[in-house]
Amino acid sequence: MIAPSPTSEKAIAVTPSARPSVTFVPADPSGVARIVIDRPDDPVNAIDVRLMEDFAAAIAAARAAAPRGLVIASGKKNQYVAGADLSLLRGGTPQSDIEKASRSMQRVLNDLAALPFVTVAAINGPALGGGLEIALACDTRIAADAPNVRVGLTETRLGLIPAAGGTQRLPRLIGLPRALDMILTARQLTPKRALRAGVVDEVVHPAVLLQAAIDHAGRDKKRKPRGGATAVERVATYFAPARAFALRQARSRTLAETRDRYPAPLAAIDAVAIGLAKGMDAGLDAEARSFGELAVGETGRSLTALVMLTLRQRKAALEGLGKPRSIANVGIVGLGFMGSGIAQAAASSGLRVRARDRDAAAVAKGLSTIRELTTDAAKKGVFERREAARIIGRVTGGPDLAGFRTADLVIEAVFEDIATKRRVIGELEQVLRPEAVIASNTSALPIAEIAREARSPERIVGMHFFSPVHKMPLIEVIRPAGADADAVATAVAAAIAMGKTAIVVGDGPGFYTTRVLSTMIGEAFTMLAEGDSIEAIDRAMTEFGWPVGPLQLVDEVGLEVAGHAGETVAKARGIAAPAIVSALVAEGFKGKHKGGGFYRYDGRRRTPNPRVRELLGAPTHPGAGDIAERLTFTFVNEAVRCLDEGVLRSPGEGDLGAVLGLGFPPFLGGPFRYADAQRQRIVTGLERLAGARGDRLAPTESLRSRRPFFSL
Ligand code: NAI
Repeated sequence: MIAPSPTSEKAIAVTPSARPSVTFVPADPSGVARIVIDRPDDPVNAIDVRLMEDFAAAIAAARAAAPRGLVIASGKKNQYVAGADLSLLRGGTPQSDIEKASRSMQRVLNDLAALPFVTVAAINGPALGGGLEIALACDTRIAADAPNVRVGLTETRLGLIPAAGGTQRLPRLIGLPRALDMILTARQLTPKRALRAGVVDEVVHPAVLLQAAIDHAGRDKKRKPRGGATAVERVATYFAPARAFALRQARSRTLAETRDRYPAPLAAIDAVAIGLAKGMDAGLDAEARSFGELAVGETGRSLTALVMLTLRQRKAALEGLGKPRSIANVGIVGLGFMGSGIAQAAASSGLRVRARDRDAAAVAKGLSTIRELTTDAAKKGVFERREAARIIGRVTGGPDLAGFRTADLVIEAVFEDIATKRRVIGELEQVLRPEAVIASNTSALPIAEIAREARSPERIVGMHFFSPVHKMPLIEVIRPAGADADAVATAVAAAIAMGKTAIVVGDGPGFYTTRVLSTMIGEAFTMLAEGDSIEAIDRAMTEFGWPVGPLQLVDEVGLEVAGHAGETVAKARGIAAPAIVSALVAEGFKGKHKGGGFYRYDGRRRTPNPRVRELLGAPTHPGAGDIAERLTFTFVNEAVRCLDEGVLRSPGEGDLGAVLGLGFPPFLGGPFRYADAQRQRIVTGLERLAGARGDRLAPTESLRSRRPFFSL
């Protein structure tokens, strides 16, 4: 039942309001009554204890009034119920209380489902987690055809499972295969997709939503869900041998994907399986028990903490900065791989984009990438097709700076070359209005260096996007020492407007993310020279929970780009830059799509490149200790150093940057949360490594100090 609410932080401090969160509105002349959900202190109707109690009372009132039909609507504009209030899961809440909360929500929804008249959910906004579970307990679901309407059971993203009947009612409604897919992927469906999947029964224009729901409530007959739309779905749901097969497949796929580190998906499969085999009551019981266990487990707590950090960051990112200027027009210079992704993200968030590249051919190529990204997203259901056409229509481009005069923010994404970037800034300064902000999307070059020859360097900041831009949720905003506070705030606001999480970091080689990543990758190069094999290093890291191994990552990013970032960071830290990358580049090994790198690629097959060992020479220290710990501890140590040096403002931003930008294993919550949990092990490990392999590995003072980074 839990799903993120952007206000869960604020809600904790709010004193209970006199107005109830849920009200019963007696029947109109047509005989249809309403229950209206409108939590006074929360804009997204997050479910808290009070809302649950008021909901129970409203259902009792409806039962007593015995109308012909009942509509469950939201009193908020464009908001249904975005899930449960995460403050229910504050650290320290005992497992038994969490389990109890799940059981009482289940009871309320069982009462709703058992009402003897037709119930209809009128979904006018996000119906996520507990919000969708409310709608699932109704007989019929009508959704408004509006861009903000989404339905989904998103709990596994938090390391939890739906726990207000979602694991029971969804498979009974749409069949086991589709239900498992929705629950295990935490997918959010647009109204049209929800209709196709059978989650909602009708999609109507937002203006007539309430009337349509009232009509259904007055007209429909009570009916039982059938277990899916097709015979195949119904067989997979209710015919035991077919169901066993589907569940077995889901379990093995999940195990392969989660490597047993994320217990929630398997627990969700179990709750679904128990419910279908032994009945709804047994299923609900399994749901509630698992929910309690998962919520207090380390993984559930880490993932929930990350989601809370992410929600809090929408406000926290702007703290201590100036006043953001309003942004309607964005300029992009350099419509290559990154520039086209950035342009597409900006246009998707409603901004008008004017782009510039060196010649018409480069512009045309960029614009066609933007079209492709947009139509692909529409195909995947990120937004509807009409919206795709509007997004594409917002981007224009040309080979000069025509149209840049109205830009509020310009993002440059030209080659990673300081002279080119300086030249571009010089040209921009000729045409931009004085209040326009210039952001550089560089991977590692210090912004102050890029801005050195500028006429007004104070309006130049960094906006470090991650690739691929449409998938990656983070933007690292870089604040050089002399930057105008309003300019930094404007870049942060633009990042948030693009739907990304923004962290604000200090200027310097590699900022935060590239610095920690390059330091860790540099250590991997050292370990290669010591004698660990390419495969052993990469395998150890993926087994530990990283999405890719460091050497494979270098191949994917490209050896020149990674080498350049590594050199920049190593120089600043006063450590030796690894020679292996430049040696490989010199022999034409430049990356996965550029002649191979640490691996050789033959179609889909990948084998370690034997030249690496030859270039490195004989191993210097064969058979060193735990590979994944050495690399991960190096990462943590460098992250802490960034906090000590003021590159990072807070441990929370450090965790967000590492997990959302670099794939630090999310189940550990981020380097700072991991440091709090495993302080002793990390400090001793680093001390031992420093003794054996050099001072660069010595734990920083604040790691040694044992003062926790987070209070809970
Ligand atoms: P790219 O080579 O795909 O694109 C660069 C584009 O800039 C090309 O289309 C080129 O024609 C254009 N360009 C070059 N000079 C220009 C000028 N004077 N005026 C107008 N356009 C010009 O490179 P990519 O990968 O998109 O990288 C761009 C920037 O983004 C670099 O600074 C890079 O370090 C940074 N970056 C790259 C990431 C990646 O994963 N590729 C990740 C984060 C940042």
